[in-house]
Amino acid sequence: MNKMIEIMKDHSSHRKFDVNYELPEQDLQLIIECAKQASTYINGQFYSIIIVKDKEKRAQMVNSNPLNSHILNSSVFLLFIMDLNRSNKIFQHHHTSHDFSDNIDHLFLGSVDTALSCANAINAVESLGLGCVVVGGVRYHVDEIIDLFKLPTLTYPLFGLSIGKPIDTPVIKPRLSNDTMIFTDEYKDYSYDLISDYDLILSKNQLSESWSDSIKNYFNNDSLKEITRKGLDKQKLL
Ligand SMILES: Cc1cc2nc3c(=O)[nH]c(=O)nc-3n(C[C@H](O)[C@H](O)[C@H](O)COP(=O)(O)O)c2cc1C
Repeated sequence: MNKMIEIMKDHSSHRKFDVNYELPEQDLQLIIECAKQASTYINGQFYSIIIVKDKEKRAQMVNSNPLNSHILNSSVFLLFIMDLNRSNKIFQHHHTSHDFSDNIDHLFLGSVDTALSCANAINAVESLGLGCVVVGGVRYHVDEIIDLFKLPTLTYPLFGLSIGKPIDTPVIKPRLSNDTMIFTDEYKDYSYDLISDYDLILSKNQLSESWSDSIKNYFNNDSLKEITRKGLDKQKLL
């Protein structure tokens, strides 16, 4: 197995970091270079990344999001932002305008590009022998993030990435079976038993009390729905 495959197969999120470790600037730049080289729709690069070194800003984020204390305890925190502001500049430059709120496809465009870039960053981090965790929790206090990082309209903070030298040893979380999610030539329905089997695997390994309940709880919780709708409206994206 080559090193790249090994790294991706062994992925697990790390949430506890050596607070004394400083990520060398050279390594940070390598992570950024990898993130930037991800595939991107029409080479549009519909995202920006803020390298958050400022401990006060990170402490403020943890204050609003105490479950994600690694935002402060990691070596560096990258904030991934969907960015259509740059596209708007092109319209402005040509003295025209475009209503970005008119097309929900823009949201796919921006979020897919941002996510692919983050996935590259994760692989780069792990290949350097470091660890990280994606932090979607920033979306729960989007107003504060917009203010804290002076995000202009047509941008939206999608997630962060806490990066550092891990001091935890999480187990690799098994994924759903191929029969549940990998199909050949056409979508194929499957028995609910496969989902029950997965619930059992995760609970047996103490990785989740009930995976299916956690999915249900997410969709039944309306709070993020409202925050996101208001946030997209504020940022003129909806
Ligand atoms: C979009 C996204 C948002 C996430 N948000 C958080 C978060 O706010 N806090 C956290 O601890 N983990 C977060 N995670 C990490 C997931 O919980 C983790 O990737 C998942 O449980 C699978 O575990 P693994 O990465 O160890 O394989 C997020 C992951 C993604 C992709």
